[in-house]
Amino acid sequence: AAAPDLAGRHVVISAGGTREPLDPVRFLGNRSSGKQGYALARTAAARGARVTLVSANTALPDPAGVDVVRAGTAVELREAVLRAAADADAVVMAAAVADFRPAEYATGKIKKQEGRDPEPIALVRNPDILAEVAAGRARPGQVVVGFAAETDDVLANGRAKLKRKGCDLLVVNEVGERKTFGSEENEAVVLGADGTETPVPYGPKEALAEKVWDLVVARLE
Ligand code: PMT
Repeated sequence: AAAPDLAGRHVVISAGGTREPLDPVRFLGNRSSGKQGYALARTAAARGARVTLVSANTALPDPAGVDVVRAGTAVELREAVLRAAADADAVVMAAAVADFRPAEYATGKIKKQEGRDPEPIALVRNPDILAEVAAGRARPGQVVVGFAAETDDVLANGRAKLKRKGCDLLVVNEVGERKTFGSEENEAVVLGADGTETPVPYGPKEALAEKVWDLVVARLE
């Protein structure tokens, strides 16, 4: 059994991908399955934490002993995360959150107009939940963890993102065939605001989750 080193702690985890509706049948979304966030939830519960899992559009069974809150859009995810974060010791944002949403929602299905080019889709910015949680720190000492899925200049982008978001830890994973979005495995470097860089070798998403909790536990109290 895992060491109960998160006993007495409340942790909040976001998982999955937001969907930003365009009309009753369409949305802007992404390829997140929720597996990495659910692995974080299962491992935290096994280490004794009270876990709130804010889940966006996943098709995974609820982990045992975890409070699951559903959120569809970035705005809904923000509400759920901020509410749960108010008394949390740690917040881990594994969800892929849309940076933008359609400026307008069409209440009827958007039709193609014969002989006319399609209308461009106007977008507006979504709130940055991770930056808001990190800037607000609902409790002193709250540990805030972000994820970053990158395709190019992975570490350089990760280091810049860590500073921009103001979190304590940023888990940088490179988008690839058998890792990151949708797969059972992952590989990452965990960047610390203290300058530490912890590589986590290719393996099950649980193994990365355990490493994240080791680093969180070391930063609690
Ligand atoms: O779900 P899986 O299929 O298992 O895949 C896991 C994963 C690839 C989704 C996960 O490991 C991961 O990397 N999640 C973050 C995806 C991402 O690209 O994030 P980002 O670089 O857009 O955002 C950086 C961080 O800010 C993330 O912690 C994100 O949750 C947060 N964010 C982003 C935008 C926004 N408006 N609000 C946010 O809080």
